[in-house]
Amino acid sequence: MNGKNIIIGICGGIAAYKIPQLVRLLKKRGACVRVALTEGGTHFVSELALATVSEEPVYRKIFPPTGSDEMDFTRHISLGEWADALVIAPATANTLARLSAGLCDDMLAAVFITLRPAKPVLIFPAMDGQMFLSPSVQRNIATLSAQGCLVINPESGVLASGQCGVGRMPEPEAILAALEKALHCGEKRSLLYGKSVVVTAGPTREKIDGVRFISNYSSGKMGFAIARAAARRGAIVTLISGPVHLPSPPGVDRLDVESTAEMNAAAEGFFRSCDLFIGAAAVSDYRPATPYDGKMKKDDEHIELTLVKNPDILARFGRQKSEGQLAVGFALETQTGLENARKKLVDKNLDLIVFNFFDRKTSGFDVDTNILTLIGSDGVTVELPQLSKDDAAERVLDAIEELCPKTGSNP
Ligand code: PMT
Repeated sequence: MNGKNIIIGICGGIAAYKIPQLVRLLKKRGACVRVALTEGGTHFVSELALATVSEEPVYRKIFPPTGSDEMDFTRHISLGEWADALVIAPATANTLARLSAGLCDDMLAAVFITLRPAKPVLIFPAMDGQMFLSPSVQRNIATLSAQGCLVINPESGVLASGQCGVGRMPEPEAILAALEKALHCGEKRSLLYGKSVVVTAGPTREKIDGVRFISNYSSGKMGFAIARAAARRGAIVTLISGPVHLPSPPGVDRLDVESTAEMNAAAEGFFRSCDLFIGAAAVSDYRPATPYDGKMKKDDEHIELTLVKNPDILARFGRQKSEGQLAVGFALETQTGLENARKKLVDKNLDLIVFNFFDRKTSGFDVDTNILTLIGSDGVTVELPQLSKDDAAERVLDAIEELCPKTGSNP
């Protein structure tokens, strides 16, 4: 960041209190930082604190107050020329609307408009989860993304309202990492850069009673490799994982779940906002109809377990995805594999299905390698050799990147 000029736009959200820390981090790395504070932002962080940590004046209105010593009426233009990048964090619903409408009613909005197109603009929306998912906010985000801004989806967790959901601003360290990537990636940027990618991984568990469950042998290795590879390409990755014994890949937002119902509930929160949904989880298709509360007794020679069908998470996303969103599935098969995989591709309305053969030694569950066949919705089939799951994940993402333009997605 040495010698880079960065403008940080701060809006009126609770996460604004973390921005002086971001200014500090940037300055430690040699950047020069100037702050454009919105009216709302002044309620959450003080101008004095920001001026002190940045060692620069803080900008709010476009015009200097009448009679002030400084009579520069074109400051918004010179600031736009000075900046190498603009970071807007936290970005509120109000400012997203102002920017997408092209309003120019404070210094932040004016700098946004005057910035040359080649300069990165990173926007970190942070707000209540329902607000974030509302059609108007999503529409404004889509407009700003189409203009070339990198809109980084908020993280999930406890929100200011006390409720849990999507809406939290990433920590200053993560904002800094995203900015560093934006300034250095240049033309080599992956098509997945800045896109919201959801990956399901691992098994799900369905309770029979308080101590027993139905599950499968999935270790999560394939799904975690996909999440790791997508994060390396600059995607904003949410990994929804069943019970596994794996550390979280760096830079990935991880949600741990146990049952299919929990995985389904966690996933559907992203159905509208994600750009890409990858189902690598081995989801239990059925669950016991009435799980027993305590531990079942062993008195009977014979017991009957009634199973009911679970929701198909990927199929739900596939059927309701809108233009520009991509759905990718995995299929683990033992017999008539490719045929079954093709059927799943069609039934679940997927853009790509990844077939892996089950042999317990080189491919499929709980091994470090996989042998994949990729089948596109256009029928094109690509067979891959035995690869480590990390290398296989890279090949799957390469294939997904090729799909992006064909489906109208514009990552
Ligand atoms: O975790 P590992 O040990 O590394 O093993 C990796 C893997 C073998 C689990 C992985 O590569 C894989 O193949 N996952 C999919 C397993 C499978 O056979 O899924 P399926 O055929 O039941 O379902 C097809 C697709 O629909 C999958 O993308 C699955 O995630 C999804 N699905 C299925 C059922 C359901 N109720 N909801 C779903 O989302």
